[in-house]
Amino acid sequence: MAEKKLADKVAVITGGARGLGRGYALRLASLGCDIAIIDRNLQGFTVYEFEKNLMTASTVVEECRALGVKAMGLELDLTDRTVTEQAMGQVVSEMGKIDIAITNAGGGTFKFADEVDSSESGPGRKGESGVGDINTTGTPSDCPQDALMRVLNINLMTCMYTCMAVAPYMKKQKSGKIVTVSSIAGLMARGGGYHPYGTAKAAIIYYTRTLAQELGPYNINVNCIAPGIIRTGRLGDRSSFAERIPLRREGTIEDCAKVVEFLVTDLSDYVTGKTITIDGGVSDQR
Ligand SMILES: NC(=O)c1ccc[n+]([C@@H]2O[C@H](COP(=O)([O-])OP(=O)(O)OC[C@H]3O[C@@H](n4cnc5c(N)ncnc54)[C@H](O)[C@@H]3O)[C@@H](O)[C@H]2O)c1
Repeated sequence: MAEKKLADKVAVITGGARGLGRGYALRLASLGCDIAIIDRNLQGFTVYEFEKNLMTASTVVEECRALGVKAMGLELDLTDRTVTEQAMGQVVSEMGKIDIAITNAGGGTFKFADEVDSSESGPGRKGESGVGDINTTGTPSDCPQDALMRVLNINLMTCMYTCMAVAPYMKKQKSGKIVTVSSIAGLMARGGGYHPYGTAKAAIIYYTRTLAQELGPYNINVNCIAPGIIRTGRLGDRSSFAERIPLRREGTIEDCAKVVEFLVTDLSDYVTGKTITIDGGVSDQR
């Protein structure tokens, strides 16, 4: 049984209704941490068979409760700063405090499959309903305005608003661990239509460093993870990339959750402002 090294801690995990966020929630709950999941769709796991098959209860909140911790879920859109501030207030009033925040909400997509109807279905991997994500189009010098703003909003702004909303509580208690979520897309200038996503994820790395400078004197650590090619429902089976990855396999949700565990426990108490790449070595290839 896992040592309950996060007993008495409370974590907010954005975008925790499925995928990597779910993995972080379950990992922390297994360490005794109380969990608040915030997601624009708490049933988002129903979109992909891969995610549905992983579920052991009716929601991720219920899965956390089954691990013996307190858990709550809020369904809202974190691209709204006021809504985000109110959400963190609600977490504090229901759970007592916020010790850990993982700003995981995001994705390199213009519209998620659960936001589009079949007439608009995009080229992204199709979900159970046969509808796919609509990916960003354009180039760095010529990108449609709505796609540009949406991708910056769901990645960079949700991260910044979440950090800004939890910081006052953490400053007051003089402790906290914030983990922001970038991507190797923020490190590598590749990827065609992925350019606004890469821009947002690169900005998150800078934001992490500068926020760490500000919050360090309050005993708050701020670090970032940059996952590579990780198998989730939305992104699908990418084992065909294995030959191009030095560790010769796609990453798993657990690969990322283990690094998050390092960053939210005392193992990383003297680490701040840093980005840990979790990519099997792929971003160092030419
Ligand atoms: N899977 C990968 O290979 C990979 C690689 C690098 C980085 N990442 C990053 O990891 C994070 C999770 O990715 P994933 O593959 O698990 O994706 P996912 O689509 O399965 O999960 C993302 C979750 O965020 C939620 N979300 C998105 N926008 C939101 C908003 N405005 N307000 C509230 N919730 C919102 C979605 O509803 C969804 O549940 C993302 O930030 C993604 O960019 C993933």
